[in-house]
Amino acid sequence: MRKVRLPDGTMVPALGQGTWHMGEKRGAAKQEADALRLGIDLGMTLIDTAEMYGNGGAEEVVATAIINRRDDVFIVSKVYPHNASREGTPAACERSLKRLRVDCIDLYLLHWRGSYPLAETVEAFEKLKAQGKIRHWGVSNLDAGDMQELLKAPHGVNCATDQVLYHPGSRGIEFALLPWCRQHRIPIMAYSPIGHSGQILRSTALATVAKRHNATPAQIAIAWGLRHADVISIPKAADLEHVRENAAAASIMLTKEDLATIDATHKPPVRSQPLDIL
Ligand SMILES: NC(=O)c1ccc[n+]([C@@H]2O[C@H](COP(=O)([O-])OP(=O)(O)OC[C@H]3O[C@@H](n4cnc5c(N)ncnc54)[C@H](OP(=O)(O)O)[C@@H]3O)[C@@H](O)[C@H]2O)c1
Repeated sequence: MRKVRLPDGTMVPALGQGTWHMGEKRGAAKQEADALRLGIDLGMTLIDTAEMYGNGGAEEVVATAIINRRDDVFIVSKVYPHNASREGTPAACERSLKRLRVDCIDLYLLHWRGSYPLAETVEAFEKLKAQGKIRHWGVSNLDAGDMQELLKAPHGVNCATDQVLYHPGSRGIEFALLPWCRQHRIPIMAYSPIGHSGQILRSTALATVAKRHNATPAQIAIAWGLRHADVISIPKAADLEHVRENAAAASIMLTKEDLATIDATHKPPVRSQPLDIL
């Protein structure tokens, strides 16, 4: 599996696994943990979760999936903005650690910007880092202006990633945010890389490119995000066949012709636009 470099030099897999909507139904938990385990076997060892998903249920599914495999995985979780205060952040982190059944979260993100000052959340993250409860911290759903503010906060430069919506049907970040993050050596983590709801998978452009590679539109959407050396992609799949497909997408190399085919339908941004959020 190709790796992406975090700002401090830590290498993480370019392709990981999402968990939104996991842990919502008790009866589905085994299948979901099996899917994550298969994904780990296939090299997708970065797992993205959040206290929000399934009300903590997704973190419990992750805990089951990584039994006896803690050292093989890189766990990403997120704090709700309404918990991201000086006192609320460590309390939320403790709850997540307990549900995940681990001593340390590899990367802890602010899920989106709320009412607490970014500097206060960063202070809490840095404290958790010093205590060994988290290894890195980052943010999610922050646009370029927020990122500039973040980097001006004390220790703000330690931000390891910005996790944002990015797929062929939502590529506004290419205008300002992606170049800005690249300039500051902060990798982007692309969420909903296959469009979340399946609509993008009906794109004729993706179907045309998929045919050329004997692949599926979902695989092309993932490969498209991974064409950047500094983008991490975290598709979610509870279906084992989807997991296998997604893992195989990491080895699809899109050609200039493929990218032009996709650009013709899913046009790159020509002006700044507000960050798309799911
Ligand atoms: N930070 C944020 O605000 C934020 C927001 C959204 C998402 N995220 C993170 O990003 C992850 C991924 O995003 P997402 O879950 O929104 O959407 P996604 O990964 O783009 O799409 C997930 C959907 O696609 C299906 N799928 C997976 N692989 C497929 C394949 N090869 N062919 C066809 N369908 C396939 C899944 O079905 P099955 O499950 O049935 O396999 C599921 O219904 C989330 O799970 C979460 O961890 C973060």
